[in-house]
Amino acid sequence: MKSFPIQTRLTAWYSIILAVVLSLFGVSAYLEMRNSIHETVDEALRDRVKGVRGLILRNSQYGDEDVKRELRQHSELAGGALLQVADRQGNWLYRSASMSDLQIPIPSGNFRGPFTFSSSKVPFRVTNAEIKVGSQSYLVQIAAPLDDFYEALHRFGVVLLVSIPILLLFAAGGGYWLSRRALAPFDQITQTARSIGIQNLSSRLVVPQTRDVLQRLSETFNGMLERLEAAFRKITQFTADASHELRTPVAVMRTRAELSLRKTRTVAEYREALTQIHAELEKTSGLVEKLMLLARADYGAEVLQLSSANLGDIVRDACSQGRTLSENKQISFHEQIPDSPVWIKADAHALRRLFLILIDNAVKYTPSGGRVEVLVATDNGSAVTAVRDTGIGIAAEDLPNVFERFYRADKARSRDSGGVGLGLSIGHWIAEAHAGSIEVRSSVGHGSVFQVRLPLVKGDS
Ligand SMILES: Nc1ncnc2c1ncn2[C@@H]1O[C@H](COP(=O)(O)OP(=O)(O)O)[C@@H](O)[C@H]1O
Ligand SMILES: [Mg+2]
Repeated sequence: MKSFPIQTRLTAWYSIILAVVLSLFGVSAYLEMRNSIHETVDEALRDRVKGVRGLILRNSQYGDEDVKRELRQHSELAGGALLQVADRQGNWLYRSASMSDLQIPIPSGNFRGPFTFSSSKVPFRVTNAEIKVGSQSYLVQIAAPLDDFYEALHRFGVVLLVSIPILLLFAAGGGYWLSRRALAPFDQITQTARSIGIQNLSSRLVVPQTRDVLQRLSETFNGMLERLEAAFRKITQFTADASHELRTPVAVMRTRAELSLRKTRTVAEYREALTQIHAELEKTSGLVEKLMLLARADYGAEVLQLSSANLGDIVRDACSQGRTLSENKQISFHEQIPDSPVWIKADAHALRRLFLILIDNAVKYTPSGGRVEVLVATDNGSAVTAVRDTGIGIAAEDLPNVFERFYRADKARSRDSGGVGLGLSIGHWIAEAHAGSIEVRSSVGHGSVFQVRLPLVKGDS
């Protein structure tokens, strides 16, 4: 059953249920009709028993012979009624001619209810009554043929037997047609879905305004396409940017090598060329390492090993490197880290890298004579590390983008300083991998503050 198309399955279930319901209906209608025939005939028979009772009561005082005669007259008047009367000993007092042919048994024991009896294939309904007159009692049996009624009942049965299967056939056909019609829009969705590929990721399904499962399905599908398209665009952008960034150093190294190889050079010249190539290589391998890290992070392959650590120690580590950077550029460097440990769950290596990225930027984008500050504090269950500088600041329109890959607010200036715009993307990923967050406030010409918020944990463990 599972392997049949859903329309067929729906129709099959629907037909089975309908068949059961219609059969139950047919059987109960048939039985009810038979019952009501019996009740009607029984009612008529009871009336006739009443007549016979009156007759017996009126005549019993004159003896059985009188009763017999009256019964005969009565029976003849009624046009050969099916009537027989026995006395208490079981002797027939009167039997109409047609009745004696039937050989209807006298009910045994206390059974007096009406019953159905067949004689040579003709059905009769028989009713019994005991009539007491003084010490004498009579058993009256009156019968009525049922053949006319049963014929009607039979015809009714035939009509049911023929019409129910025909009805079922029509209903199944209608059901199949309906389920095909109801499912047709899904086929349409499937076809559209099939035609959507990388080339036309921006096409969407037409959403029917039916406020039902179809509308929800189309909307869900379109939502999925939208997310896929955004993700796909991000990946293509990333690949394009990455290749672009790699092209420059590779071109530089190639030119450098080609120039050196054009003719024989002195050792000093070779050395100079190699030094330049080496510097470019260093940059390139740094870039490749960053790209790999981001790619692995996207893919979910880069997993940090978090363990309890003192945030103060990690920040102090990063600061000692940062201090060297700022001294080279005549920038004053200040750190304010509490003496008591600030416990967090951290991958110390990764977290140090995050703070180095922030300090490196602060120094890079702050002119000589400026000031860089690193502060650690706790706030409401979080450890907050702020890296503040008095540098060039970031324009409001650039602020939302600085965490994007390859985004540089001031392309020329940051290119000179060797950045490609991946530092903050990596920093953002590291903060999130620590269940933390990173945010930035800045004003152009006055400086910037980057704030990393990490969840605190209780004590060492
Ligand atoms: N402290 C800062 N002051 C001013 N601008 C900053 C600062 N930190 C980051 N930026 C801006 O954000 C951009 C992205 O930073 P980042 O991802 O580290 O890339 P980059 O490799 O250029 O340093 C930088 O190019 C710069 O324009
Ligand atoms: Mg940077």
